[in-house]
Amino acid sequence: MNWDDTTGTDAADERLVASVADREDQAVEAALRPKDLGEFIGQEKVREQLDLVLRAARARGATADHVLLSGAPGLGKTTLSMIIAAEMGAPIRITSGPAIQHAGDLAAILSSLQEGEVLFLDEIHRMSRPAEEMLYMAMEDFRVDVIVGKGPGATAIPLELPPFTLVGATTRAGLLPPPLRDRFGFTAHMEFYEPPELRRVIHRSANLLDVEIDTDGAAEIAGRSRGTPRIANRLLRRVRDYAQVKADGVITREIAAAALQVYEVDARGLDRLDRGVLEALLKLFGGGPVGLSTLAVAVGEERETVEEVAEPFLVREGLLARTPRGRVATPAAWAHLGLTPPRSTGTGNGQQDLFGA
Ligand SMILES: Nc1ncnc2c1ncn2[C@@H]1O[C@H](COP(=O)(O)OP(=O)(O)O)[C@@H](O)[C@H]1O
Ligand SMILES: [Mg+2]
Repeated sequence: MNWDDTTGTDAADERLVASVADREDQAVEAALRPKDLGEFIGQEKVREQLDLVLRAARARGATADHVLLSGAPGLGKTTLSMIIAAEMGAPIRITSGPAIQHAGDLAAILSSLQEGEVLFLDEIHRMSRPAEEMLYMAMEDFRVDVIVGKGPGATAIPLELPPFTLVGATTRAGLLPPPLRDRFGFTAHMEFYEPPELRRVIHRSANLLDVEIDTDGAAEIAGRSRGTPRIANRLLRRVRDYAQVKADGVITREIAAAALQVYEVDARGLDRLDRGVLEALLKLFGGGPVGLSTLAVAVGEERETVEEVAEPFLVREGLLARTPRGRVATPAAWAHLGLTPPRSTGTGNGQQDLFGA
């Protein structure tokens, strides 16, 4: 199993800091989505490049090149696909890799596209092999071979397609077969957002949701949002609830901090599971190295949950390192939990050669 497959599991869905969309997100997201490139916050390089691609296509009166969007969940891939369609004045059809079981499913979609339409294929790395091969030809030659009949009597009927723009989204560009990757005219890699950008996302959403928030309140939420607009928007909604019930509805730094303490999201965006893993590593195993299985037993979680739900963020934050000898806490982890690392005993402690501490 890989990381993004399992972020869709229950363990991940229940978390306030999960980056996959839960049902409530899906309902609210439509209202919060920026509608054009000018409204889209951050990702300067991607925005600049995409703007050129789309402008040039418009000037030529042509359909835009196929676009591949890669990046972690919640960074704005679906939003950008809709913006691409809006900027091109084109309709958009939305589907996903897992929804396309058979090549025939894809053929049906492709053959019903209008000229210039945007086809958004989410989780494109999870498409079936035969569908993928059909897509190669459709992307390159705007043509598919529809197989009619079975066995020796089967015949391939070539079908012309109108020019369209494929927008593929993936959390893992590395998993795409090179022939598929090569057929995209433009690939955009989306990065995690910096706190100032997240603050702008939060102010914008607060405005749309008619919530009053001050600069410090937005900064407090931004700092806990794991670089992810979806999480920022979700935390904003929970803080709004708190502000309504416990205060006068206005979100200040104090209100945001108090609310997120109730939801157990700490100052750096770690939740109960993340902190549990770090605490076990520090308090029970002196900071490691300790094997993943042992660590999982210590926190009472499945090995996969620790590895795929908690660790990616801890590693990204520089709080935990995966080494050949096991999991090791970094000095930043001790500092974050307000604990003092044990004095090094010289040999036998993985911390020493790893961090020179
Ligand atoms: N650059 C951005 N500016 C403002 N809001 C954003 C931005 N990127 C994402 N969002 C918001 O975050 C949420 C998740 O974005 P989405 O496009 O669904 O992410 P993805 O498809 O990559 O998982 C949406 O509500 C969207 O409005
Ligand atoms: Mg999406």
